[in-house]
Amino acid sequence: MKVPHSLLLLPLLFALAWAQCPTAAELKNANGTKICAQLYTDNSPYYDQCCAGSVLVVQPDEDQPYAPSAFNNKVSSLVVGTRCELTVWDKKGKGGKTRKFKPGPFPRLQEFRRGIFGDWDNAISAFYCKCS
Ligand SMILES: *[C@@H]1O[C@H](CO)[C@@H](O)[C@H](O)[C@H]1NC(C)=O
Repeated sequence: MKVPHSLLLLPLLFALAWAQCPTAAELKNANGTKICAQLYTDNSPYYDQCCAGSVLVVQPDEDQPYAPSAFNNKVSSLVVGTRCELTVWDKKGKGGKTRKFKPGPFPRLQEFRRGIFGDWDNAISAFYCKCS
């Protein structure tokens, strides 16, 4: 995010800061162990308001050939943890098109192309997450 120089904007920035996507390093369980990925149902044209809506916490080695129905074809933002990799598919049972996401926040899945005409917004139906 580009930080404006005007101090007048600081209160606004702090107000929105909580709504930004977490960083890869921030993905930790309450007990301190690593979370592999977090999937979110909502995003926004504003990057600092992405990673919103319902969140699905994905633990290392979690394998979901059938995404839970509350998240099937509904994921719009995601974050992958440090030294982890999330593989997604656009058809149930790990069919159709696939893509791997590396560590870091991906606020707007519209920006990731899926085939010629599609993108990955509201398209994930299966996933597998692993950490090294
Ligand atoms: C830490 O918490 C996560 C999520 O609840 C759980 O899957 C994991 O087994 C826990 N690990 C330890 C070492 O307690």
